[in-house]
Amino acid sequence: MNEPTSTVSMTVNGASVQREIATRLSLVDFLRETLRLTGTHVGCEHGICGACSVLLDGDPVRACLMFAVQADGHAITTVEGLAAPDGTMSVLQDSFCETHGLQCGYCTPGMLIAAHALLEQNARPSTGQIRDAISGNLCRCTGYQQIVDAIQLAAQRRGDAVSLAAQRGGDAVSIAAQRAGDATR
Ligand code: FES
Ligand code: FES
Repeated sequence: MNEPTSTVSMTVNGASVQREIATRLSLVDFLRETLRLTGTHVGCEHGICGACSVLLDGDPVRACLMFAVQADGHAITTVEGLAAPDGTMSVLQDSFCETHGLQCGYCTPGMLIAAHALLEQNARPSTGQIRDAISGNLCRCTGYQQIVDAIQLAAQRRGDAVSLAAQRGGDAVSIAAQRAGDATR
């Protein structure tokens, strides 16, 4: 008997993707095996560990608990999509390196996805809010403290970058206004 198939179309890390797939294919297997985006890990395969977390339209979801066809028409971001197109790590990813927020690394993609979603909604989370945001992601190595440290460091760095950009923007406006004033004299 032939296995039922479906056509899915979605955006994955900013790129449009369309494939004919087995209708029963899970989203995590679609990402890893069909698209070869192996940064998303598979752990428990029943929604407990968080290793398979990806963003669906910006919200973290368990890719092991979804069929790929359920993501049809949506935007998926995997851990690969958190880095710049040239592979440069994001501030968050770099902060995990800086604070030793990983050991074996198996939980790390899911942790990064959970942390990214948190920082997009709450630029200055408290320690309790960080712990709450990653509470659905299991790590058997780090004891979690370095992961919390990493997310706090990333929040601080992102905040500093925004302040610097605002300051530079303000400086640029001042210089432009001054030049405009000089030109009318
Ligand atoms: S593999 Fe999906 S939650 Fe564990
Ligand atoms: S670093 Fe090994 S499971 Fe988290």
